[in-house]
Amino acid sequence: MNILVTGGTGYIGSHTTIELIRAGHTVEILDNLFNSKIEVLDKIEKISGVKPIFHKVDLLDYGSTLRVFKNTQFDAVIHFAGMKAVGESVEKPLMYYENNIQGTINLLKAMNETGVKKLIFSSSATVYGDKGDKSGELVETMTTGVGITNPYGWTKSMIEQIIRDTAVSDLSLSATILRYFNPVGADKSGLIGEDPNGIPNNLMPIVTKVYQGKLPKLIIYGNDYATEDGSCKRDFIHVTDLAKGHLSALEHMEPGVSVYNLGSGKATSVFEIVNAFERISGKELPKEIGERRAGDLAVVCANPSLAYKKLNWKTELTIDDAIADTLNYLKINS
Ligand code: UD1
Repeated sequence: MNILVTGGTGYIGSHTTIELIRAGHTVEILDNLFNSKIEVLDKIEKISGVKPIFHKVDLLDYGSTLRVFKNTQFDAVIHFAGMKAVGESVEKPLMYYENNIQGTINLLKAMNETGVKKLIFSSSATVYGDKGDKSGELVETMTTGVGITNPYGWTKSMIEQIIRDTAVSDLSLSATILRYFNPVGADKSGLIGEDPNGIPNNLMPIVTKVYQGKLPKLIIYGNDYATEDGSCKRDFIHVTDLAKGHLSALEHMEPGVSVYNLGSGKATSVFEIVNAFERISGKELPKEIGERRAGDLAVVCANPSLAYKKLNWKTELTIDDAIADTLNYLKINS
């Protein structure tokens, strides 16, 4: 297939691009390089043997976006492009709503205008809002959009709705919404990994910065949650498993809208992550217990059985793999 990957130079987009190329697809990337680097293209080539055609285009620029679609007849679009920093979204909500929502609307318009009928959208477990507190385990059929605590999360939820409404108006559209849990790790080659601009928000990038001495210490946000060790638990998923989930989704697209959780189904605590990182790296990390972070839930975990049943996909890599691959990425890139 000819596939357009928006946000293809980003963390999950680049790993997915590699899996698509490995499976024999032709990939073009559209990215504005807001939170990624052009060098990623060379690294994709080194790993996969193919350098994807690259369009430095902002989805907010509808004219340029449409030109990309008129230039190549795509069979499918995988849409990663978007802003994803929770804290920043609270400070700059309009920027988040404009970029993520208007960007997606422009993409859907360009797809419609050029007859592209397959879309995979990069959503998040964040759309379940505060559901995780009660059951911990999240199922696709649960209500979404209740108790979301930040504009970033709302954009994901709103985009899901926009896609649903678009699919109602165009019955020939197949859209698959993938709700990611907590992606971690890096490609085995160590060439690509997570490289956020500025100070990271998520646990693993912070742990790695502390490990490198670029941040003074790790603050564990709360040890008084109702979990075995008192720290929060999350469903961490290796980014390569996540990337392969997109491939499975692409191979099993159905008319209408399908929704799948992409997670491991196993929740791991913050303390367990830190212990594993220290064990595998052989280095103790400076750390202290801090206050709870606003908006955090005790347990967030996928029920991934639908993806297994319908997409024949499940995670294969472990947290130890993710940490070892992250350390390999740091070694190669430092
Ligand atoms: C967060 C977002 C979620 C988003 C996801 C991916 C919130 C409430 N949720 O998920 O919407 O989809 O990132 O970008 O922001 N932790 C520490 N110390 C740190 C950093 C994190 O103890 O310095 C803990 C957190 O309290 C949490 C766990 O590590 O319990 C994971 O945090 P994080 O990586 O930010 O992911 P989520 O909060 O699960």
